[in-house]
Amino acid sequence: MNSKRYTITSALPYANGPLHIGHIAGAYLPADIYVRYLRMSGKEVVYICGSDEHGAAITLRAKKEGITPNAIIDRYHELNKETFKQFGIDFDIYHRTSEPLHHQTAQEFFTTLYDKGEFSERVSEQFYDETFNQFLADRYVKGTCPKCGYENAYGDQCENCGTSLSPTDLIDPKSTLSGNTPVLRETKHWYLQLDKYQPWLEEWLLEGKKGKWKNNVYGQCSSWLKEGLQPRSMTRDLDWGVDVPLDEAEGKKLYVWLDAPIGYISATKQWAEDTGNDWTKYWLKQENDEDDATLIHFIGKDNIVFHCIIFPSILHAHGGYILPDNVPANEFLNLEGDKMSTSRNHAVWLHEYLEDFPGKRDVLRYVLCAIMPENKDADFTWKDFQARNNNELVAILGNFVNRVVVLNRKYFQGQNQAAGAALSNPEAQEALAQINEHVANMEKALSQFRFREAQAEYMNIARVGNKYITDQEPWKKWKESPEAVAEILFVCTQIVAKLGVFAKPFLPDTADTILDLLKAGDLGLTFEQARAEHILIPEGHQMYAEKENRILFEKIEDEVIQQQLDKLANAKAAADGANVPAAKEEVTFDDFQTMDIRIGTILEAEKVKKAKKLLQFKVDTGIDVRTIVSGVAEFFSPEEMVGKQVPVLVNLKPRKIRGVESQGMILFAEDLQGKLHILDPKESIDSGSSVN
Ligand code: MF3
Ligand code: ZN
Repeated sequence: MNSKRYTITSALPYANGPLHIGHIAGAYLPADIYVRYLRMSGKEVVYICGSDEHGAAITLRAKKEGITPNAIIDRYHELNKETFKQFGIDFDIYHRTSEPLHHQTAQEFFTTLYDKGEFSERVSEQFYDETFNQFLADRYVKGTCPKCGYENAYGDQCENCGTSLSPTDLIDPKSTLSGNTPVLRETKHWYLQLDKYQPWLEEWLLEGKKGKWKNNVYGQCSSWLKEGLQPRSMTRDLDWGVDVPLDEAEGKKLYVWLDAPIGYISATKQWAEDTGNDWTKYWLKQENDEDDATLIHFIGKDNIVFHCIIFPSILHAHGGYILPDNVPANEFLNLEGDKMSTSRNHAVWLHEYLEDFPGKRDVLRYVLCAIMPENKDADFTWKDFQARNNNELVAILGNFVNRVVVLNRKYFQGQNQAAGAALSNPEAQEALAQINEHVANMEKALSQFRFREAQAEYMNIARVGNKYITDQEPWKKWKESPEAVAEILFVCTQIVAKLGVFAKPFLPDTADTILDLLKAGDLGLTFEQARAEHILIPEGHQMYAEKENRILFEKIEDEVIQQQLDKLANAKAAADGANVPAAKEEVTFDDFQTMDIRIGTILEAEKVKKAKKLLQFKVDTGIDVRTIVSGVAEFFSPEEMVGKQVPVLVNLKPRKIRGVESQGMILFAEDLQGKLHILDPKESIDSGSSVN
């Protein structure tokens, strides 16, 4: 961690939808904090990101919206790029994998590996849609999960039970393009021989990164390696992506997880070209090891295997490239106790937050850092957001800065007094010593990717300041001893200055405001100085002009929080609404009239033996008493059904169900969650009354 050059990446988000706070807390905010910290420590840093524009994520979305993949990537690339900028994530470049430079770079990688003989070629059978004349990538095949029976499992994974699958595992597979049953056809692909790199990975990763990488990351890697790596295909039969640069592979594309991480490299090339830098210094091994850049990937936990095993294997197989020094992956962030979900619209969208809370970027940064899912999944709630704003940012940080500013203005018109001797007071000494300790802890935590702790230590500096000024009670001393007040405020002002400088990685806007209040712009305060020196604001320095005061944080009221909760509830209702099945095909009145529906009264009810779901009823239909079998045992007990009145379709042709003849059908209401409800008339009426 002593190199001077750093290559920092955040996972390239798919350009298939907007960003939500889960993305931010996972791979962007921690990287941004780290990058700001490195820059303030005088390191040369390039911070890389961009849109991942290939893969089924894009084409599926395009299909869903009925537009071209190009329209999708253009829309979301622009939106996400702008949103990151508005939120203040400090990338040096936000590139995109649809750029020719990227296609070229990815193809060069493939060709180099091909020429070195790193691929094995294999012909296998894969699903093919004969209507659309194309092979079906994993996500284009749906069917029944062989493990849990879920009917809408994807070819790569069952979202119900989480089992990872391959398309041929599915029972009754269907193409999502045509809805038809696909056929198996032979196709050739190029496989990266991960098994061949296993011994190297065991040394580089299992031995080399032990105790250095986070437990959640190291643990996942070692379990992959324990299971033994298999060759993995680096090409796909798709019509969207980077062309495989081989004549015999016409129509085939590179696997998205081959091309996307190479996107970090092509983005760096573009940045270097734009700014007159040399990209090779950030990616290639240098003559002396100490001159190598340090490569760090910030990602979410679902990306671990790609960044820790597959991409390093590719870089290693290629040769000449540096390897990731660390991959501090985060776990997931939930929202109000529930998984965030794009399809259910259960999320806090970053671009909407920025609209709803103008000027409050730092509040969200603060809260997301405070709850960052560093070691386990975490939960964002709007109540907690409000509490952290009101009880921490307002009551601790804002309050301290404000007290110092206001008192200084009141007593000294904002001029820092000639009171340097104050620093030798024992109380001041003690406060400053405590602050030094918090700063040291903060920096240690930052350098080890423990951002929650780092920010908490930052806040501890403000806590020390508050305690110091409260204990000193300058407002009580003014009459007797203005000198004492001058000394106290001199000390406090230095603490405020430290808070301004050290806010930079976590709360960049707040840092600016604090340093502005101090009119510290021309003092050029550095991180190094703020760490090593006690006097940052010199004697006699004229700070904030009179009345020119800016509030750092303001209280967030209950109504504002309620609005956000309502918004989530509305989104949920709308998403549920979207699940209402469409109306069936039209029928005539005469068609309807053929059905004879009566109100019946249930006389008896019992379970059907050896059939968990069935109940058997004796129903008085007014016409007769008959037996009806219904699949409702998971919703109602026999006891609660007896005596109930229900609509019965009485002219349904009798059918045998589990050996019992069912003479009609009881009608129930099925809600959107699939739960059944009894449709009994409000008051008891004659059995045999008709429903029409
Ligand atoms: N687009 C991927 C995702 O959202 C991440 C790609 S990271 C990269 O999960 F390294 F491959 F670019
Ligand atoms: Zn399943």
